[in-house]
Amino acid sequence: MNVLVTGGCGFIGSHLVREALKLTDIQRVVNLDALTYSGNIQNLSDILDERYDFVHGSINDYELVSSILSEYKIDNIIHLAAESHVDRSIDSVSPFIKTNIDGTRVILENLRVERNRENNINLIHVSTDEVYGTLGPQDTPFTEESPISPMNPYASTKASSDLLVQAFVNTYGISAIITRCSNNYGPNQFPEKLIPLMTLNAIEGKPLPIYGDGKQIRDWIHVSDHVRGIISSMFGFIDNKLTPGEVINFGAANEMENIEIVRGILGITGASDDLVKYVKDRPGHDRRYAMGYEKAEMKLEWRPEKNWADGLKETVNWYIEQKYWVESIRTGEYLNWIENQYGN
Ligand code: NAD
Ligand code: TYD
Repeated sequence: MNVLVTGGCGFIGSHLVREALKLTDIQRVVNLDALTYSGNIQNLSDILDERYDFVHGSINDYELVSSILSEYKIDNIIHLAAESHVDRSIDSVSPFIKTNIDGTRVILENLRVERNRENNINLIHVSTDEVYGTLGPQDTPFTEESPISPMNPYASTKASSDLLVQAFVNTYGISAIITRCSNNYGPNQFPEKLIPLMTLNAIEGKPLPIYGDGKQIRDWIHVSDHVRGIISSMFGFIDNKLTPGEVINFGAANEMENIEIVRGILGITGASDDLVKYVKDRPGHDRRYAMGYEKAEMKLEWRPEKNWADGLKETVNWYIEQKYWVESIRTGEYLNWIENQYGN
């Protein structure tokens, strides 16, 4: 197997590359990453495995994607490259349309051409629970049958890419499935997302900016569980347990309010409750996400394993210990974002 991972220098991608290399039946893992602000080459700098290759470039570059597919004889693509932060999409939607929609189109066009040459490459398209929109307090969790109803620009671009994937399966017969997952947490997440941001602010005695009333709910899953699910999906697809166009959801039955998470971080770091600061709500803020994962259990024998209390503690401690990683990320771009988003 020769696997192309897109976005492998990001949070989830870097965990995925590591896990993939643990599998002996994978001969080659090629990581195509544009190294945008959230891509960090250091996330994989310790990997010495000769089966691993890094290509610095964009999924929007048709010729580059085409040459990687032929040069490395790629037979499976795990597509994670994306603009991934809701707040940034509210600030400026254009990069999200370019990468999430048009970048996915470039990959799909390549697969269409390969298929015309009788070369069927599998695509595992990594998507999100946010495409389903928001839940009320009494609603049952999302399933694969829930209607697509994205509520913010990031979610809309992810939903658009999912629909393009399904259209290419239906129209051109390409071989693709879609995975959708709830909010991930763990080491290596860019510190503009809730858990790393609050952890770093807590240990540095800075305010912890809670949007609105802080009672928004997410279903938090450890990144290791998600990555295991993506890899199981790839093998499940190869073994015909999943069919082209099929969707598979991953969640953790771990619904938490944002304020509960922040209190957990305060408890682990020993920082003062006084740091909690309620700020203006995110526009169009989705109230609740929750993902059912019965299909993943049934078809892939997958279930989440990481215990939340252990996972949060290990994650918070990772950010405390990785001072070099944190400092290297705090470049001009990151500081500009924090200033723009939170002001003083
Ligand atoms: P991330 O922002 O940490 O990483 C994204 C990576 O993609 C970065 O390394 C970046 O350099 C790369 N990239 C961006 N544009 C690119 C381009 N044009 N060409 C090549 N590489 C490019 O994001 P993440 O949290 O690791 O998310 C990865 C994927 O998983 C995304 O598709 C996201 O929608 C999905 N997802 C994320 C979560 C979550 O909670 N983080 C949950 C469900 C699904
Ligand atoms: P985030 O990590 O951006 O993920 P997503 O928007 O994809 O769920 O945010 C998680 C939750 O935390 C979300 O409800 C918004 C909230 N939040 C804050 O309250 N303050 C913050 O500074 C950030 C970044 C997020």
